[in-house]
Amino acid sequence: MDGNGRWATRRGLPRSAGHRAGARAVRRLVEAAARHPAIAALTLYAFSSDNWRRPADEVAALMRLFERHLRIESPRCAANSVRLEIVGRRDRLDPRLRAAIDAAELATRGGAHLHLRIAVDYSARDAIAARQLLPDVDLLIRTGGERRLSDFLLWESAYAELVFVEQMWPDFTAADLAAALTEFHTRARRFGALPAAALGATS
Ligand code: FPP
Repeated sequence: MDGNGRWATRRGLPRSAGHRAGARAVRRLVEAAARHPAIAALTLYAFSSDNWRRPADEVAALMRLFERHLRIESPRCAANSVRLEIVGRRDRLDPRLRAAIDAAELATRGGAHLHLRIAVDYSARDAIAARQLLPDVDLLIRTGGERRLSDFLLWESAYAELVFVEQMWPDFTAADLAAALTEFHTRARRFGALPAAALGATS
């Protein structure tokens, strides 16, 4: 979810306003994903383990935003059969945020419609070293014009299709998600094997 800071700066707003706009985008995109029949799981990269290196006031504002949104959104998730799971380290999070996470996971544990994972204090390298692996990723979308993975789901993305978009995260819409899915469906996924036509020719 890259680009909150630039979205705000371009509007003469503080970065925290960009994160709040990013949270509104999270709500829109989760609704869109939950409506989409092809999407069973969605993982959002909200805070990397390297993001602790940001100024303390930005980190604190982000943590407050996570806690507030978890408390607000978890009843809506439960009502819409969305299962919330927070992935990443918990031991460095504020106890109030940890309590909000526990409550949200408990309240939504029966959700079978969409499995929504939010990565907080997440490092793919640490997850690999600790064997805390998630299911394989089919499509990985990065906003904000960056073209790298930045320690996100490195193991799970071994055969992911990568889509990089220029939009800043707060501007990313349901239509942009649909466009990324259309792009995904144009890709030939071979997982190292040969295309079916070539297999037929060799047999
Ligand atoms: C990266 O953009 C974004 C983050 C580090 C924070 C992501 C947080 C949210 C979208 C807010 C709420 C999330 C939830 C799950 C409720 P950046 O700050 O690096 O922007 P920049 O690349 O323009 O500097």
